[in-house]
Amino acid sequence: MTDQAPAPFTGKSRVLSGVQPTGDLHLGNYLGALVKFARLQHEMETFIFVADLHALTEWTDPKKLKSNVREITAAYLATGLDPKVATIFAQSAVPEHAELAWIFNCVARLGWLDRMTQFKDKAGKHKERSSVGLYTYPVLQAADILVYKATHVPVGEDQRQHLELTRDIAQKFNHDFEAPGFFPLPEALTQGPGARIMSLRDGAVKMSKSDPSDNSRINLTDDADAISQKIRKAKTDAELLPEKLDDLAGRPEAQNLVGVYAALAGRTAQDVLTEFAGQGFGKLKPQLADLAVSVMGPIGGEMRRLLADPVEIDKILGAGAERAREVAAPTLAEVKRIVGYWAG
Ligand code: TYM
Repeated sequence: MTDQAPAPFTGKSRVLSGVQPTGDLHLGNYLGALVKFARLQHEMETFIFVADLHALTEWTDPKKLKSNVREITAAYLATGLDPKVATIFAQSAVPEHAELAWIFNCVARLGWLDRMTQFKDKAGKHKERSSVGLYTYPVLQAADILVYKATHVPVGEDQRQHLELTRDIAQKFNHDFEAPGFFPLPEALTQGPGARIMSLRDGAVKMSKSDPSDNSRINLTDDADAISQKIRKAKTDAELLPEKLDDLAGRPEAQNLVGVYAALAGRTAQDVLTEFAGQGFGKLKPQLADLAVSVMGPIGGEMRRLLADPVEIDKILGAGAERAREVAAPTLAEVKRIVGYWAG
């Protein structure tokens, strides 16, 4: 079969994204990613998974991993993903991801990975003690995306560099193996005011699962009281809100709260400023707290309801994995043939 020309990419639009099962999901995950998943499922064929292979790149308690996967799945469902519309699955149930990642390890260049800022941030001063998996993390991410020939990847701003690497890998594979157009060059969907939500305690660092301060983030499972209190305590400055967006420059906390308001309300940041211009945070915060409670409050309750029935969640993940493999297996088979494997 090696003389057969590789099938070119047919141009079908397809969404793929995922979240790691490593700690509580927060407002940044919700606005940067989950909210977009629920919307996009009605616009394009959509694959959303839980990245439990990626979770192993840093120490993860084996006793907790499976329940963490169920928790992320519950968050997907509670924020509007419909398993009858989108394909929802766990990465570890689709071995094609890891197999394609090996081939991509041989396509990606060391110099490309050396530039990845997420690795530098996560490894910190202890690069030598980091797992090799943490270093090649973005290569597995490229395999996640390209094994479905996905064209659109909804993610927060922090994932943009990994998407650029994915495009580089796709392009080099297509070129080196003389398979023009085999893999699409996927686009990161990072538009909107929710793409980079910052910590509530420090507007200079992003809201993150790993921040030691729980007051730095609003968790999807926080109740109304906790949400209001965290917004009340959020760091601000002493100035009034300006009329124009440009005048928020140099005020990261103010910028963040206006951005969160806009993202939760589905409005532009400029529109929010026009409403609050000339007012202080004493006016903005209570309204932001009410808005956050009305949007986020019901999600935690729905997650708890769904998690009470893990069998149903596992059923959804099982059916999703079957559907995912129907798409991933033919891509991998074709890749094996293209690279000339004996088993290809
Ligand atoms: P993870 O679990 O770290 O983050 C999940 C999603 O949440 C977004 N995000 C944010 N968005 C806005 N503001 C924030 N403060 C914020 N913090 C996190 C992330 O950008 C992400 O979209 N590498 C991915 C997981 C992954 C993946 C993939 C994604 C593995 N393979 C393939 C897309 C396609 C990640 O960092 O997940």
